[in-house]
Amino acid sequence: MFLRDCWYVVAWSHEVPSQGLLARTVLGEALVLFRTQDGSVAALADRCCHRLAPLSRGRHEGDCVRCGYHGLAFDAHGRCVEVPGMETVPPGLAVRTYPVVEHNRWVFVWMGEPERANRRWLPDNFSCDHPDWVYRPGYLHYEVPWQLIADNLLDFSHLSYVHEATLGGSTAIARARPRIDPIERGLRIGREVKSVPAPPYYAALRAFDGPIDRWFIYDFLLPATLLMNSGGRLHGAPEGDSASEVHLHSCQALTPETESSTHYFFQQAHPRHLGDEKVTEGLYQGVIRAFEEDRAMISAQYGAIRRGGEQAMMSLPMDAALLQFRRLVEREAAREAGLT
Ligand code: FES
Ligand SMILES: [Fe+2]
Repeated sequence: MFLRDCWYVVAWSHEVPSQGLLARTVLGEALVLFRTQDGSVAALADRCCHRLAPLSRGRHEGDCVRCGYHGLAFDAHGRCVEVPGMETVPPGLAVRTYPVVEHNRWVFVWMGEPERANRRWLPDNFSCDHPDWVYRPGYLHYEVPWQLIADNLLDFSHLSYVHEATLGGSTAIARARPRIDPIERGLRIGREVKSVPAPPYYAALRAFDGPIDRWFIYDFLLPATLLMNSGGRLHGAPEGDSASEVHLHSCQALTPETESSTHYFFQQAHPRHLGDEKVTEGLYQGVIRAFEEDRAMISAQYGAIRRGGEQAMMSLPMDAALLQFRRLVEREAAREAGLT
């Protein structure tokens, strides 16, 4: 099930070059993206209206994309502006376009009816473009349906086991019960653990000479965007004492590519004052290692599901947030279908 009335991250800003084309599939629909000469991004259906060749096999010319098969040129509104050998363009020659917004270095595409595009629903991914925050952008491709990855992000009890040697480091995370509060178009999830060893990936940021208190507070918003404050401070140190704590902000977005594959855009940002490029790189390496751990587990889980016959999943208290989010998706799908 795909929601359509949503902004989906289709690319990092740097992936859409000023010269050239980017092909990317979202919700099973092939798109081609390019920049016009004023720098704004256009997204067109990646299928020429002539003989249906992918436009991404053509070339970028100024404010247009030219089909590489017979040379029709289309502008950023999808209108055909030139047919080689014809004086005038026959009326109605066009390809579909999609509303696009570039917002804090993420390029969002609206997959619903264009007139329903609602900029208020863009997530506040501020740390992707803020002078006080530094990160290295990340992307992973999953051969797995997006819901299984959303389930993973909605339940951090897995940190204790999947990420024992990276993000986790303590079974206390799995034993802690999160607070879950409904917010507009999503859930706010907060989990705190007291007096645990610093996780291995914090070593890139700061050495702690004793146990720490950790927190993870994040919003998980439709369609599947995670915005998180997390951190740790020496156990017993006063709140806000920046000399004894690590504070991170993370932005992550899942975009279904097809029913069984997903784009995963992510970053884990640290405050600029917390370190130099080596720290940024060390943090990125820690996070990518952990996210590969997730990908290995979730891919194996999907393999078992596909082989598994009729057996249903079980629900336990640790699944509360992911079950609530699945219900939210179902409600939103019903609203889009006009059933509510
Ligand atoms: S298929 Fe594109 S110009 Fe013919
Ligand atoms: Fe994980």
